[in-house]
Amino acid sequence: MSDLPAPEAPAPDPRPTPTEPVADPGAAAELDVAELDVTAPDVAVAPAPVEAAVAALPWWDSAVFYQIYPRSFADSNGDGVGDLGGVREHLDYLRDLGIDALWISPVTRSPMADHGYDVSDPRDIDPLFGDLAAMDALLAAAHERGIKVTMDLVPNHTSEEHPWFRAALTARPGSAERARYVFRDGRGPGGDEPPNNWPSIFGGPAWSRVVEPDGTKGQWYLHLFAPEQPDLNFDNPEVVDDLEKTLRFWLDRGIDGFRIDVAHGLAKPDGLPDLEIPATQLMVGSVEDSRFDNPGVHEIHRRIRRVTDEYRAVTVGEIWVDDNERFGKYLRSDELTLGFNFRLARAQFTADDIRDAITNSLAAVDAVDAVATWTLSNHDISREVTRYGGGRIGTARARAMALVVLALPGVPFLYNGSELGLADVDLPDAALQDPMFFRSGGLMRGRDGCRVPLPWDGVAPPYGFTTGSSTWLPMPDDWAKLTVAAELDDPTSMLELYRAAIALRRSRPEFAAGSAFALLPAADGCVVFQRGQGLVCVVNTTDEPMQLPPGEVLLSSAPMDGDRLAGDAAAWVAL
Ligand code: GLC
Repeated sequence: MSDLPAPEAPAPDPRPTPTEPVADPGAAAELDVAELDVTAPDVAVAPAPVEAAVAALPWWDSAVFYQIYPRSFADSNGDGVGDLGGVREHLDYLRDLGIDALWISPVTRSPMADHGYDVSDPRDIDPLFGDLAAMDALLAAAHERGIKVTMDLVPNHTSEEHPWFRAALTARPGSAERARYVFRDGRGPGGDEPPNNWPSIFGGPAWSRVVEPDGTKGQWYLHLFAPEQPDLNFDNPEVVDDLEKTLRFWLDRGIDGFRIDVAHGLAKPDGLPDLEIPATQLMVGSVEDSRFDNPGVHEIHRRIRRVTDEYRAVTVGEIWVDDNERFGKYLRSDELTLGFNFRLARAQFTADDIRDAITNSLAAVDAVDAVATWTLSNHDISREVTRYGGGRIGTARARAMALVVLALPGVPFLYNGSELGLADVDLPDAALQDPMFFRSGGLMRGRDGCRVPLPWDGVAPPYGFTTGSSTWLPMPDDWAKLTVAAELDDPTSMLELYRAAIALRRSRPEFAAGSAFALLPAADGCVVFQRGQGLVCVVNTTDEPMQLPPGEVLLSSAPMDGDRLAGDAAAWVAL
């Protein structure tokens, strides 16, 4: 990362100061004390001189990112779908939460077959979300509050309604219009079979056949996702040039960077050979899937980096690649600045899984001198409360993991609603909208459950999300205690935990970018890691209280019982 220009001077810090740890001495039962040895690191990262390192680091190296799924964040015009105006109206909430940067899922023009991940014009805002003026206003208002804004870039495919794809349909096989996409003749008699055996990630074949302008059955086009999302051909220089135009369009307006969709899938394997493995699912590491992580992808990221470096912008790639060495390649100093490592989002709430995810995520970036990212959920992944078992236990574990991601070295990404402790909603079939549900014939339920609109205030749907009466996905009846307003009033809420943790992360030097990290030996079922010169994060994944090391408990995810930490909980302790 050393080739980056010096960062801008930091904006004044408008965030709140940390609150005291929650204390409720009656809560923990009388149980064994777990042994904790915090003296001998077993994995150590050499301490760096913090102040010198921070001065040389770009802003994102220790930033807290917050993902906004715009349909579901806040609706400002009463149509039941969130929009840019809604984001702008709640910027003070985000500032007070303490986040540094936003990642806004796609708001560009789209027929919404995949809720914006099917882009028909990458250089305009969809009217559902607002317009360019609304984006400019949001950007200015965010910057006024010291919040950076990154957008989702969807380079792998367009919408079927993109003018390029429409032109390809009316053009001939072999034409320049078709060469922007991946068109092939079919196999078998009459070309009636798809060109290869690739399945779509959303279910069904990854090829659809077109009708030629003369009315005859024609070629097939590739779509790794829905048929409405034809894959672009990145071997075509016109495609890469157009991507650069899109980058510059938004960077010139002041955008601070991009999240790059399917960053590991842009280059397809030579000759498009048949797959030898069963279908890859979207949220599964795809290193075995020869359609992803092909060598040609790195040249595309170099091209993107040349542009974003001119603007000192950040890029964070969606990289479903398990192998550490191959993952790290995306983060070489001339490629992406950050990459999503999804190990923690796939880890169970066990000490082994958590430790394994941390160790591997760090190993993957250390090799290329890059910075790790941490995420528990996003718009594609079940919410953590649900993944950890739901209900009281799921919430307790999600609280604990919040303290983990906010203490690890690198860049945490919070998915909107995590800070409220929302769980997935079990929606009726009739409410579902995800193409994954329909394409898989209902075999995969899809991602709607983690995309339900956020509750802001009130005691019944739509909980202040919209001034209208309905919401694009129905909101449950039992969220009255999970609204922003209710949680701001409750010192024990998930929201207050997040606010306190982010404020501490900001104020304690142990959490600064470049500060040392070491995993320490710990009792069975516990994970302990140290930051800086003596702050430890202790995670107790057992269901029994454990004794914390001597020191000051800065924050705990559950009420403390003297110096004992409850099961399914975590604490930050200054030794
Ligand atoms: C990425 C997005 C997902 C989308 C897919 C196709 O995985 O995160 O939501 O459906 O790409 O664009």
